[in-house]
Amino acid sequence: MNRRSFLASLSTPALLTHRAVAAGAASNPRERRPFNEGWRFFKGEAEGAERPEFRDSTWAAVRLPHDWAIEGPFDSHINPHTGALPYFGTGWYRKTFTIPESAHERYFTIEFDGAMSNSRVWLNGQDLGGRPYGYIGFTFDLTPHLQFGDRPNVLAVRLAPEERSSRWYPGAGIYRNVWLHVTGPLHVGHWGTYITTPEVTGDRARVAVKTELRNRSGRESQVTLQSTLLDASGKQVNRTSNATTLPANGMQIVTSELSMTNPQRWDIDSPHLYTLLSEVLDTEPRPSGSGGSGNRLVDRYLTPFGVRTIAFDKDSGFLLNGRRVKLQGVCNHHDLGALGTAVNRRATERQLQILKEAGVNAIRTSHNPPSPELLECCDQLGLLVMDEAFDMWRIPKMVNGYSKYFAEWSERDVRDMVRRDRNHPSIILWSIGNEVPEQGRPDGWQEAKRLVEFFRQEDPTRPTTSAFNNPVGAIRNQLAAQVDVPGINYHPWLYEQIQKEHPDWIICGSETASCVSSRGVYHLPLEKYEKHPSLQLSSYDIITASWAYPPDVEFTYQDRLPNVLGEFVWTGFDYIGEPTPYFGYYPGSDNSHDWPARSSYFGMVDLAGFPKDRYYLYQSVWSKKPMVHVLPHWNWEGREGQDIPVMCYSNGDEVELLLNGKSLGRKKRFSEPFDLPVEAIVTPERKFTTKYRLLWHVPFQAGTLAAVAYRDGKPIAHHEMRTAGVPARVKLIPDRALIQADGDDLSFITVRIEDKDGTLCPAADDLVRFQVTGAGAIAAVDNGNPATVEPFHADYRKAFSGMALLIVRSRAGQAGRIRVTATADGLTRGQAEIATRT
Ligand code: GAL
Repeated sequence: MNRRSFLASLSTPALLTHRAVAAGAASNPRERRPFNEGWRFFKGEAEGAERPEFRDSTWAAVRLPHDWAIEGPFDSHINPHTGALPYFGTGWYRKTFTIPESAHERYFTIEFDGAMSNSRVWLNGQDLGGRPYGYIGFTFDLTPHLQFGDRPNVLAVRLAPEERSSRWYPGAGIYRNVWLHVTGPLHVGHWGTYITTPEVTGDRARVAVKTELRNRSGRESQVTLQSTLLDASGKQVNRTSNATTLPANGMQIVTSELSMTNPQRWDIDSPHLYTLLSEVLDTEPRPSGSGGSGNRLVDRYLTPFGVRTIAFDKDSGFLLNGRRVKLQGVCNHHDLGALGTAVNRRATERQLQILKEAGVNAIRTSHNPPSPELLECCDQLGLLVMDEAFDMWRIPKMVNGYSKYFAEWSERDVRDMVRRDRNHPSIILWSIGNEVPEQGRPDGWQEAKRLVEFFRQEDPTRPTTSAFNNPVGAIRNQLAAQVDVPGINYHPWLYEQIQKEHPDWIICGSETASCVSSRGVYHLPLEKYEKHPSLQLSSYDIITASWAYPPDVEFTYQDRLPNVLGEFVWTGFDYIGEPTPYFGYYPGSDNSHDWPARSSYFGMVDLAGFPKDRYYLYQSVWSKKPMVHVLPHWNWEGREGQDIPVMCYSNGDEVELLLNGKSLGRKKRFSEPFDLPVEAIVTPERKFTTKYRLLWHVPFQAGTLAAVAYRDGKPIAHHEMRTAGVPARVKLIPDRALIQADGDDLSFITVRIEDKDGTLCPAADDLVRFQVTGAGAIAAVDNGNPATVEPFHADYRKAFSGMALLIVRSRAGQAGRIRVTATADGLTRGQAEIATRT
């Protein structure tokens, strides 16, 4: 195999920097190839499509990952809680491929990172099996049924996601990557390494490795496993060898240990990764003249990992490398906005980068195992992960939910999840489930105990948790006692009492806030309402679901109890589905009053990736980087002289507000508390005093409203809102002007409607048309509006609160330039150019 195909077979881009590995790669006898090209897709039932002779030439040509539902159209008859998109029904994928005659002695495994859902897979008409859970990764051995040479092979996949199976938009299709693994008969098993660091001190680390070695040959074989630790530059740190005999057609787990001095620890600010290189040498003596004897390299397998310590302490909370780290987490669903659920590494990385900038240090993969790419990005960016298994167990939340499969599949799914994920340094907690109705059942603890046991067997190095929205029930029914870290959803006022009654418990705010807002939308007067006729929600960050509360409430309780591990906000990004409080749809109900609200308002970032005001409220508490943020916009024509509530979020110790250069006074942080309207579950008087924001009432006068933050008397940050004039131009701002020409990489282009001076027009909703030529194409469009049925796959988009998003994808192998033009009636066009390189 040449070096290029080996490099292409690596899944983790970080590994590409491992030059030493790459340099010696020419001889790698294992390949891991993306198997995403050349598929055909049909939406609907296709009788006999599993048979090789079936004719699929009229089916659509698709490239994986593929989400068949994201193109829509949005449909008012489909539950908006799942995004009003057609994610259910039957879908078929087929791929025809050949394998060279010379590969006869090789072993072939197909790996699906996830397929949504109820999959069934056939190779050349042979039923290989299937998996009901759409979020689980799985493999099949193709070897026994493959044909070689000119004879074609046909892989057929049938998916059958059901309506009423999910509480959010699950997507549909082979929405994650597919890989083909090719090995010799002696090799490291799939997910075959397990690396732990039983001892880490400042100057030394012990690395313990369990390696599963497989022998698919029909004879007993002598092998040597050579395990090499490599640092991030690919330099060898240490190496050890173990000789062993593998039984014919059997396997063996080899335990080895390596030490290193002065380990560079993986941490949130320095996410240092090592790689374990596992090499299998065939040491079987061979008769002379038969191609050499001994020490023939027959497999190379790479496992990135990190050296770090985690500890959970009832008094100090969470300790990373011995240092206390409060979890500043967010819950996220798996969709990537306008791209749907189709996995894309850059889109995933962008979401995480945007969140990290707000001071987020942890992600909860609500409520299912994430894509491998998400975990790889968290490893690389330094984000902690709560990896969650399920949204339901035996008792259904949705009639066609996972409960249907729980009895048969939960053990297998948990074990596979942990085996796939347990080498990621980012993962610190395993969650056995979210808000399961079993909390309310006297025997609910039995299921919790069973699941916890599977996690502990597969990985005793991380604690288990579960997210309880009924903490009283979960405690009474002993579910909370089964997990290492009881997670409390939406009950911060109970933390203290729980700690008092269970002094040994370590607890966590596993789901918090559920505040809702629409970016750039402000409703006056400043009052809490349930719904608004516009189907938007005010961005003053006071509107919440009825079971929920604004961020300030959680801050207050967490600040009082520093040993609570921290929180996971619902949610980091808006996601498709769950347009709370516009519940609208109930089967048989008139849905029209809430239509077309179809995606969530929960995010601190909107669906397009534009931060809402709330993002800055979290940033003011979570980040030390000097910042100040002022809201609302300053276009209140017709309200001249009337008081407009103005809020500032800042981590400075003082903020000064200026209107048209005239000071409206300085306010000290934390020293001017005021009341926010809240639900009766928060306080009986429905008011909650916050000290985390500063509030002014400013008589409106057009011009510039500026906020200046001070620390120790010195200005540290500045933010201003200017009254915009009439829309004059379209401005395009690509997030990256140079991307890879690999057909996957993306440039996210912010589209702004500006006045002649470059001020954002906050109410602009102009229709913008896009023209993309050259080395790329439109991947999707959005504007963050949760209540529109405009398609994500289009070459136009209306602005929402003055902004829209254009996502451009490179073309594989086409280095060059992507030229983008954006036009809108009566406005000066916007232009941008993005370079692509191979
Ligand atoms: C929680 C649930 C989440 C989401 C959220 C909305 O109870 O765990 O999945 O539905 O409510 O506030």
